[in-house]
Amino acid sequence: MPEDKLIVLKDLDFELERGEFVSIVGESGVGKSTFLHLVGFLDEPSKGEIILKGIDYKMLSNPEKAAIRASTIGFVFQFHHLLPEFTALENLIIPGLISGKNGRGTTKRAKMFLRVFGILNKADHYPGQLSGGEAQRISLARALMNKPQLLLADEPTGNLDEKNSEVFMDYLEQLRNNEDITVIFATHNMELAKRAERILNLKDGHFSEIEDKLNEKFV
Ligand SMILES: Nc1ncnc2c1ncn2[C@@H]1O[C@H](COP(=O)(O)OP(=O)(O)OP(=O)(O)O)[C@@H](O)[C@H]1O
Ligand SMILES: [Mg+2]
Repeated sequence: MPEDKLIVLKDLDFELERGEFVSIVGESGVGKSTFLHLVGFLDEPSKGEIILKGIDYKMLSNPEKAAIRASTIGFVFQFHHLLPEFTALENLIIPGLISGKNGRGTTKRAKMFLRVFGILNKADHYPGQLSGGEAQRISLARALMNKPQLLLADEPTGNLDEKNSEVFMDYLEQLRNNEDITVIFATHNMELAKRAERILNLKDGHFSEIEDKLNEKFV
Protein backbone atom coordinates (compact mmCIF):
# COMPACT_ATOMS: atom_id res chain seq x y z
CA MET A 1 0.00 0.00 0.00
CA PRO A 2 1.34 3.43 -0.85
CA GLU A 3 1.17 4.70 2.73
CA ASP A 4 3.48 1.86 3.74
CA LYS A 5 6.13 2.97 1.30
CA LEU A 6 9.33 4.25 2.76
CA ILE A 7 11.02 6.74 0.47
CA VAL A 8 14.72 6.59 1.19
CA LEU A 9 16.36 8.43 -1.71
CA LYS A 10 14.69 11.29 -3.58
CA ASP A 11 15.75 14.24 -5.78
CA LEU A 12 19.13 12.61 -5.83
CA ASP A 13 21.34 13.74 -8.67
CA PHE A 14 24.88 12.53 -8.65
CA GLU A 15 27.65 12.21 -11.22
CA LEU A 16 30.91 10.44 -10.77
CA GLU A 17 33.87 10.63 -13.12
CA ARG A 18 36.10 7.67 -13.71
CA GLY A 19 38.96 7.58 -11.22
CA GLU A 20 37.22 9.61 -8.55
CA PHE A 21 37.54 8.72 -4.88
CA VAL A 22 34.35 9.66 -3.08
CA SER A 23 33.06 9.12 0.43
CA ILE A 24 29.46 9.12 1.57
CA VAL A 25 28.62 10.13 5.10
CA GLY A 26 25.30 10.50 6.87
CA GLU A 27 23.42 9.31 9.90
CA SER A 28 22.38 5.73 10.32
CA GLY A 29 19.33 4.95 8.19
CA VAL A 30 19.71 7.83 5.69
CA GLY A 31 20.23 5.44 2.79
CA LYS A 32 23.98 5.04 2.26
CA SER A 33 23.74 1.28 1.82
CA THR A 34 20.64 1.66 -0.32
CA PHE A 35 22.55 4.00 -2.63
CA LEU A 36 25.51 1.63 -2.95
CA HIS A 37 23.17 -1.29 -3.60
CA LEU A 38 21.45 0.64 -6.37
CA VAL A 39 24.72 1.61 -8.02
CA GLY A 40 25.94 -1.98 -7.74
CA PHE A 41 22.78 -3.58 -9.20
CA LEU A 42 21.98 -5.29 -5.93
CA ASP A 43 18.72 -3.36 -5.81
CA GLU A 44 16.46 -1.57 -8.27
CA PRO A 45 15.21 1.99 -8.00
CA SER A 46 11.43 2.41 -8.06
CA LYS A 47 11.98 5.60 -10.07
CA GLY A 48 14.78 7.47 -11.76
CA GLU A 49 17.81 6.70 -13.88
CA ILE A 50 21.12 5.11 -13.13
CA ILE A 51 23.66 5.32 -15.92
CA LEU A 52 26.95 3.45 -15.82
CA LYS A 53 29.47 4.06 -18.59
CA GLY A 54 26.69 5.51 -20.72
CA ILE A 55 24.37 2.53 -20.25
CA ASP A 56 20.99 3.05 -18.62
CA TYR A 57 20.37 0.28 -16.11
CA LYS A 58 16.76 0.03 -17.24
CA MET A 59 17.89 -1.16 -20.67
CA LEU A 60 19.63 -4.18 -19.20
CA SER A 61 18.26 -7.64 -18.54
CA ASN A 62 19.09 -9.33 -15.24
CA PRO A 63 21.75 -11.58 -16.81
CA GLU A 64 23.32 -8.52 -18.44
CA LYS A 65 23.35 -6.77 -15.09
CA ALA A 66 24.95 -9.80 -13.47
CA ALA A 67 27.60 -9.90 -16.18
CA ILE A 68 28.42 -6.20 -15.80
CA ARG A 69 28.47 -6.53 -12.04
CA ALA A 70 30.89 -9.45 -12.22
CA SER A 71 33.22 -7.75 -14.69
CA THR A 72 33.05 -4.12 -13.60
CA ILE A 73 32.06 -3.76 -9.96
CA GLY A 74 33.69 -4.89 -6.73
CA PHE A 75 32.00 -4.81 -3.32
CA VAL A 76 33.36 -4.65 0.16
CA PHE A 77 30.83 -4.92 2.97
CA GLN A 78 30.98 -4.06 6.62
CA PHE A 79 31.06 -7.73 7.50
CA HIS A 80 33.43 -9.64 5.33
CA HIS A 81 31.10 -12.42 4.06
CA LEU A 82 34.02 -14.74 3.41
CA LEU A 83 33.14 -18.39 2.89
CA PRO A 84 33.98 -19.99 6.24
CA GLU A 85 34.78 -23.45 4.91
CA PHE A 86 37.41 -22.22 2.47
CA THR A 87 40.87 -20.82 3.13
CA ALA A 88 41.81 -17.19 2.55
CA LEU A 89 43.45 -18.08 -0.77
CA GLU A 90 40.49 -20.19 -1.87
CA ASN A 91 38.11 -17.36 -1.02
CA LEU A 92 40.02 -15.21 -3.50
CA ILE A 93 40.26 -17.70 -6.34
CA ILE A 94 36.85 -19.42 -6.20
CA PRO A 95 34.78 -16.59 -7.77
CA GLY A 96 37.25 -16.45 -10.67
CA LEU A 97 37.18 -20.20 -11.17
CA ILE A 98 33.38 -20.23 -11.17
CA SER A 99 33.32 -17.58 -13.87
CA GLY A 100 35.70 -19.70 -15.94
CA LYS A 101 38.92 -17.76 -15.43
CA ASN A 102 42.29 -19.29 -15.97
CA GLY A 103 43.29 -21.00 -12.73
CA ARG A 104 46.97 -20.18 -12.78
CA GLY A 105 46.48 -16.48 -13.55
CA THR A 106 43.82 -16.24 -10.85
CA THR A 107 46.02 -17.85 -8.23
CA LYS A 108 48.88 -15.56 -9.20
CA ARG A 109 46.76 -12.44 -8.78
CA ALA A 110 45.36 -13.73 -5.46
CA LYS A 111 48.87 -14.28 -4.12
CA MET A 112 49.92 -10.87 -5.36
CA PHE A 113 47.15 -9.28 -3.24
CA LEU A 114 47.99 -11.40 -0.22
CA ARG A 115 51.57 -10.21 -0.53
CA VAL A 116 50.65 -6.54 -1.08
CA PHE A 117 48.30 -6.63 1.90
CA GLY A 118 50.92 -8.32 4.08
CA ILE A 119 48.96 -11.53 4.67
CA LEU A 120 50.61 -14.06 2.38
CA ASN A 121 51.41 -16.10 5.50
CA LYS A 122 47.65 -16.38 6.10
CA ALA A 123 46.85 -17.90 2.70
CA ASP A 124 45.95 -21.28 4.20
CA HIS A 125 44.03 -19.92 7.16
CA TYR A 126 40.26 -20.18 7.33
CA PRO A 127 38.25 -16.99 7.94
CA GLY A 128 37.64 -18.07 11.54
CA GLN A 129 41.40 -18.06 12.06
CA LEU A 130 41.87 -14.48 10.83
CA SER A 131 41.69 -11.23 12.77
CA GLY A 132 39.00 -8.73 11.77
CA GLY A 133 41.54 -6.58 9.95
CA GLU A 134 43.02 -9.56 8.08
CA ALA A 135 39.58 -10.80 7.04
CA GLN A 136 38.71 -7.31 5.84
CA ARG A 137 41.88 -7.16 3.74
CA ILE A 138 40.98 -10.55 2.22
CA SER A 139 37.55 -9.18 1.48
CA LEU A 140 39.07 -6.14 -0.22
CA ALA A 141 41.37 -8.42 -2.22
CA ARG A 142 38.38 -10.56 -3.23
CA ALA A 143 36.53 -7.47 -4.45
CA LEU A 144 39.54 -6.60 -6.59
CA MET A 145 40.21 -10.01 -8.10
CA ASN A 146 38.18 -9.33 -11.22
CA LYS A 147 39.86 -5.96 -11.84
CA PRO A 148 36.71 -3.93 -11.22
CA GLN A 149 36.54 -0.40 -12.55
CA LEU A 150 34.25 0.61 -9.72
CA LEU A 151 34.73 -0.36 -6.09
CA LEU A 152 31.77 0.07 -3.74
CA ALA A 153 32.65 -0.19 -0.09
CA ASP A 154 29.94 -0.07 2.56
CA GLU A 155 31.47 0.84 5.91
CA PRO A 156 34.47 -1.32 5.10
CA THR A 157 36.21 -0.32 8.29
CA GLY A 158 33.14 -0.63 10.51
CA ASN A 159 34.68 -3.54 12.36
CA LEU A 160 38.24 -2.32 12.55
CA ASP A 161 40.10 -0.36 15.18
CA GLU A 162 41.49 3.06 14.36
CA LYS A 163 44.91 1.87 13.26
CA ASN A 164 43.57 -0.88 11.00
CA SER A 165 41.01 1.53 9.57
CA GLU A 166 43.81 3.89 8.57
CA VAL A 167 45.80 1.00 7.11
CA PHE A 168 42.77 -0.13 5.16
CA MET A 169 42.30 3.36 3.77
CA ASP A 170 45.97 3.43 2.77
CA TYR A 171 45.31 0.32 0.68
CA LEU A 172 42.30 1.90 -0.94
CA GLU A 173 44.30 4.99 -1.81
CA GLN A 174 47.16 2.94 -3.23
CA LEU A 175 44.79 0.89 -5.32
CA ARG A 176 43.09 3.87 -6.61
CA ASN A 177 46.45 5.27 -7.71
CA ASN A 178 47.81 1.99 -9.10
CA GLU A 179 44.79 0.26 -10.60
CA ASP A 180 42.85 3.22 -12.05
CA ILE A 181 39.81 2.31 -10.05
CA THR A 182 36.86 4.50 -9.05
CA VAL A 183 35.98 4.22 -5.37
CA ILE A 184 32.78 5.07 -3.49
CA PHE A 185 32.80 4.26 0.18
CA ALA A 186 30.26 4.86 2.92
CA THR A 187 31.45 5.55 6.43
CA HIS A 188 30.34 6.98 9.74
CA ASN A 189 33.86 8.13 10.39
CA MET A 190 34.43 11.70 9.26
CA GLU A 191 38.20 11.42 9.62
CA LEU A 192 38.23 8.56 7.13
CA ALA A 193 35.74 10.31 4.88
CA LYS A 194 38.11 13.25 4.61
CA ARG A 195 40.65 11.05 2.88
CA ALA A 196 38.46 11.04 -0.22
CA GLU A 197 38.56 13.80 -2.80
CA ARG A 198 34.86 14.47 -2.40
CA ILE A 199 32.66 13.98 0.64
CA LEU A 200 28.95 13.64 0.03
CA ASN A 201 26.61 14.07 2.93
CA LEU A 202 23.41 12.08 2.50
CA LYS A 203 20.44 13.66 4.21
CA ASP A 204 16.71 13.77 3.48
CA GLY A 205 17.14 11.56 0.45
CA HIS A 206 19.84 13.49 -1.37
CA PHE A 207 23.48 14.46 -1.31
CA SER A 208 25.08 17.72 -0.44
CA GLU A 209 28.76 18.10 -1.08
CA ILE A 210 30.88 19.01 1.92
CA GLU A 211 32.80 21.79 0.24
CA ASP A 212 35.12 23.04 2.95
CA LYS A 213 36.84 19.70 3.18
CA LEU A 214 40.27 21.13 2.44
CA ASN A 215 39.97 23.69 5.16
CA GLU A 216 38.68 21.14 7.62
CA LYS A 217 41.49 18.78 6.79
CA PHE A 218 44.14 21.22 7.91
CA VAL A 219 42.46 22.59 10.99
N1 LIG B 1 15.24 -4.52 3.23
C1 LIG B 1 14.64 -3.42 3.70
N2 LIG B 1 13.30 -3.35 3.79
C2 LIG B 1 12.70 -2.24 4.25
N3 LIG B 1 13.36 -1.14 4.63
C3 LIG B 1 14.68 -1.16 4.57
C4 LIG B 1 15.40 -2.29 4.10
N4 LIG B 1 16.73 -2.01 4.14
C5 LIG B 1 16.81 -0.76 4.62
N5 LIG B 1 15.61 -0.24 4.87
C6 LIG B 1 15.31 1.10 5.36
O1 LIG B 1 15.79 2.03 4.41
C7 LIG B 1 16.38 3.14 5.06
C8 LIG B 1 17.80 3.33 4.58
O2 LIG B 1 18.57 2.22 5.02
P1 LIG B 1 20.10 2.06 4.69
O3 LIG B 1 20.50 0.71 5.13
O4 LIG B 1 20.34 2.41 3.26
O5 LIG B 1 20.75 3.19 5.63
P2 LIG B 1 22.27 3.50 5.95
O6 LIG B 1 22.49 4.96 5.71
O7 LIG B 1 23.14 2.56 5.20
O8 LIG B 1 22.35 3.22 7.51
P3 LIG B 1 23.59 2.65 8.38
O9 LIG B 1 24.53 3.80 8.55
O10 LIG B 1 22.92 2.27 9.68
O11 LIG B 1 24.19 1.48 7.68
C9 LIG B 1 16.24 2.90 6.56
O12 LIG B 1 15.14 3.62 7.02
C10 LIG B 1 16.02 1.42 6.66
O13 LIG B 1 15.23 1.12 7.78
MG1 LIG C 1 24.42 1.02 5.80
